[in-house]
Amino acid sequence: MLRPPVARLQALSRSLAATTRFSSTRPFSTNMKAVIYNSTGDSSVLQVGDVPKPSPGPTDVLMKVEWAGVNFIDIYFRTGLYPTTFPATTGREGAGVIEALGADVPAEYNLSVGDRVACYAQNVMAEYCATPAARLMKLPDAVTTRQGAGLILQGLTAWTLVKDAHEVKAGEVVLVHAAAGGTGGLIVQMAKHLGATVIGTASTPEKIAIAKEHGCDHVINYSHQSVLDEVMRLTDGKGCHAVFSGIGKATFKDDLECCRKKGTMVTFGNASGAIEGFRPLELGKKNVKLIRPRLDVYVSEREDFEQRSAELLDLVAKGIVKLDIAKEYTMEQVGQAHDDLSGRKSTGKLIVKIAD
Ligand SMILES: NC(=O)c1ccc[n+]([C@@H]2O[C@H](COP(=O)([O-])OP(=O)(O)OC[C@H]3O[C@@H](n4cnc5c(N)ncnc54)[C@H](OP(=O)(O)O)[C@@H]3O)[C@@H](O)[C@H]2O)c1
Repeated sequence: MLRPPVARLQALSRSLAATTRFSSTRPFSTNMKAVIYNSTGDSSVLQVGDVPKPSPGPTDVLMKVEWAGVNFIDIYFRTGLYPTTFPATTGREGAGVIEALGADVPAEYNLSVGDRVACYAQNVMAEYCATPAARLMKLPDAVTTRQGAGLILQGLTAWTLVKDAHEVKAGEVVLVHAAAGGTGGLIVQMAKHLGATVIGTASTPEKIAIAKEHGCDHVINYSHQSVLDEVMRLTDGKGCHAVFSGIGKATFKDDLECCRKKGTMVTFGNASGAIEGFRPLELGKKNVKLIRPRLDVYVSEREDFEQRSAELLDLVAKGIVKLDIAKEYTMEQVGQAHDDLSGRKSTGKLIVKIAD
């Protein structure tokens, strides 16, 4: 089938980019700065080192990174909870500008050199990353690369949790743990937008104030209040239609109790450690549905990635969802960012400036 002239030009530009890529006289053979580690361990294993600038494969895009987001998954890989190979580059989300496209990037992705994009991929905390084009989201004018970098992983996670893991509906009551945090703060805003009453949790008075700013109707200080007692008091003993928890083992037992009959328990992370020793029979007390979702599975098909990304960007562009960027770090300070996140010192989103 004949392609229209614009598509042919795009294909030509891609094939020229690919030719550049395979030329023996650069630009893909030089080194670049990246935040790397050579063994698992505490945050001191992270260092800024020189590594080869990556070459994009046929369906990849080479992105010049401007900003990268910090996420719990970076800590799971660094500490060895999730396996990795060495030397490893940290970072799973970032944003910047497309420098080159692989020759086989589908035209329908509508990507061009110079586009501002955010990516959900690996090895992002580096001056350049080569990332599957299918995991790139083009940013509208209303969304900066600084916002895009902090949005794509936690934002898509939060949006798929409230749409796919448990579709939040108007009139429901939901419990959201760590409501002052990155993912939790976004879930709160989205659940409110979808018409739910939101009960949040947070561990300090300062975090409670932030959880309220995120839109919680009620906030429980779970450092000294019983979440279960408070949830039952606030729901006339019925419990919540859904519980969203990235805390893991520390709250799991009570989280199940906080669900109402036929409610949904969404456990999406391990901030306090992985859940162990659970017996499915426990679910039968209230016929609770239990789901342990992962973002990468929800968006593994380009169609799903595009749909949920477009919806997310629309919510941000319209100001319905606000990205709460609480702290910026340099590449040299990424270890500090990990410690702030795992040490419960952070709120909102933590991002790293890679380049202007
Ligand atoms: N399934 C997925 O695809 C997916 C994707 C993204 C994120 N996640 C998960 O979402 C969760 C939140 O990630 P995030 O990056 O948005 O972090 P975050 O919520 O900004 O920070 C974690 C918060 O968890 C709370 N927390 C409670 N107990 C904790 C403990 N023992 N250690 C550390 N923190 C504890 C703290 O808030 P308080 O001090 O207020 O308690 C802390 O600030 C993580 O479990 C992460 O793995 C999952």
